[in-house]
Amino acid sequence: MACFFRRCVALQLAEVCGLSEDVFIPLISAVPVSQKQSAADLRVSVNSLRQNGAVAADGDLQSKTQALANQRGAVVEEVSAGRGVIHFRLNRPILAQKLLEQLCSEPDGFGVKSELLRHLQGGRTLVEFSSPNIAKKFHAGHLRSTIIGNFIANLKKALGNEVIRVNYLGDWGMQFGLLGAGFERSGSQEKLRTQPLEHLSVCCAAAECDESVRSAAAEFFRRLERGEDQALALWRQFREITVDEYKRIYQRLGVHFDHYSGEAFHQHQTQNVLDELMTRGLLKTTEKGTAVVDLSGAGDLSSYATLVRSDGTSLYITRDVAAALDRKQRFGFDEMIYVTDKSQTVHFRQLFHILLAMGHQWAERCVHVAFGLVQGMSTRRGEVVFLEDVLEEARSRMLNNMRQSSTSKELEEPEQTAERVGISALIVQDFRGPLMSDYKFDWDKVLQAHGDTGVFLQYTHARLCSLLRRHARETYSCCDVSPLVDSRSVSVLQHLLRYDEVLLQSANELQPRHLVNFLLTLSHLVAVAHRELPVKGSSAAVAQARLCLFSAVRSVLANGMRILGITPVEKM
Ligand code: ARG
Repeated sequence: MACFFRRCVALQLAEVCGLSEDVFIPLISAVPVSQKQSAADLRVSVNSLRQNGAVAADGDLQSKTQALANQRGAVVEEVSAGRGVIHFRLNRPILAQKLLEQLCSEPDGFGVKSELLRHLQGGRTLVEFSSPNIAKKFHAGHLRSTIIGNFIANLKKALGNEVIRVNYLGDWGMQFGLLGAGFERSGSQEKLRTQPLEHLSVCCAAAECDESVRSAAAEFFRRLERGEDQALALWRQFREITVDEYKRIYQRLGVHFDHYSGEAFHQHQTQNVLDELMTRGLLKTTEKGTAVVDLSGAGDLSSYATLVRSDGTSLYITRDVAAALDRKQRFGFDEMIYVTDKSQTVHFRQLFHILLAMGHQWAERCVHVAFGLVQGMSTRRGEVVFLEDVLEEARSRMLNNMRQSSTSKELEEPEQTAERVGISALIVQDFRGPLMSDYKFDWDKVLQAHGDTGVFLQYTHARLCSLLRRHARETYSCCDVSPLVDSRSVSVLQHLLRYDEVLLQSANELQPRHLVNFLLTLSHLVAVAHRELPVKGSSAAVAQARLCLFSAVRSVLANGMRILGITPVEKM
């Protein structure tokens, strides 16, 4: 286990530096395989030792490094000074033994149960994501929110948190006036049944283009706001149909929600919010007749948020304040994470500011995870309007690619495999860089079989599965993995040593790229190992040790992929 080795090194450091070993645990990290200039496996930076008062002057560092080197034992074989770091080289047979022992006995606990992550565990996290707007275009931003939010929820869950997944639908506002009026003019119950999302968007678009519907739309929305039965019944129908459709599509993506809420629900609570703000003296009426909350800190309204329009209606942010208060009460979360594109950064900053001004200290544990724009996501039908179009396109293109390679002929469910692999490709493409960056979407790049793509991850996983299937009758255990001391095996093992650190970094920054890059590197390393370390034709002892390694890598790969929101395939 990664922490076993970290603990060994920490113990030595504690002995030499005279501090508790727990101080050192988070300071010790695995040396990335790609940056290897030395044969070391673990390292600790001199700066971090200084900051923690473990070493003083340079002379002190030298004598302590020397003391560490003299002290080496069975596990830590060699200690040496590098540039700004101290290096620790582990005994290779023990490295293989301990890592694989843990991976064999508890594959699903590997990494996620590391003591490095303990301080992150046990809380209740609410993640709000996807949140499309009913009858409006589903854009690439909603797809990004869906997969990023799903990743965050999966990661928190894997680390042992209780997770509540909320979808906050855009189900209120003038849009519904247009939709209602449009539907009353040109809608059909028949089409609503057969092509619900398309039909709603057509009705809405038709109304948008038609000047004469404008006043009917305003009237319909007033009827909704007054709570008139007939209008509300239609609204409810639109909403239910949309949610059912989305549920079906989310299922294809492997995403689920614990709660579907929306702006409409919280609309009814906005009055309470306004009353509370008023009582606390936070709501100011302006000359224009709007009501605002001063966010300037200086009381001069140089920065403020509008919560009531001059016609008395509430806004997006008013409903968000109500929603946050309601969620806190209902779910008692420890932290709440909102996932939207970066155009809403100011909105969420204002929201958290208002909550804090109201005296809700927990707003300090509310986070907005922002992401950049995707340009040029289109399908054969043209610009993306519906989420499902993207899935169809990914599936058909992938199926096409698979048909050109020979393997797909043996697949029982090629369509399903193509869809899974296609979705993995979308996810990996999206997660490879910092979330804040914009990127240009390109189907050909996304679906490449080689290079750093989701297809490559799936391909690696499927190849390991096939190898393990072929040798299913050979029993192997991790009792004797001492043959795994060649450089290929060692690289894989050294890389596995990093898994918990990568999870920690992903969780701290709420960025999937660390995990994605870890899995891609793992795949590259294991591809070389697979090519150069044959199982067939090797002596029984060597074959078993290698199978053990490949099986361990397969489980880390699968678990990591699942956290990303990817369903690993066993054949492709
Ligand atoms: N429906 C909104 C949109 O599509 C996103 C909602 C984000 N969440 C929130 N609590 N405001 O832009």
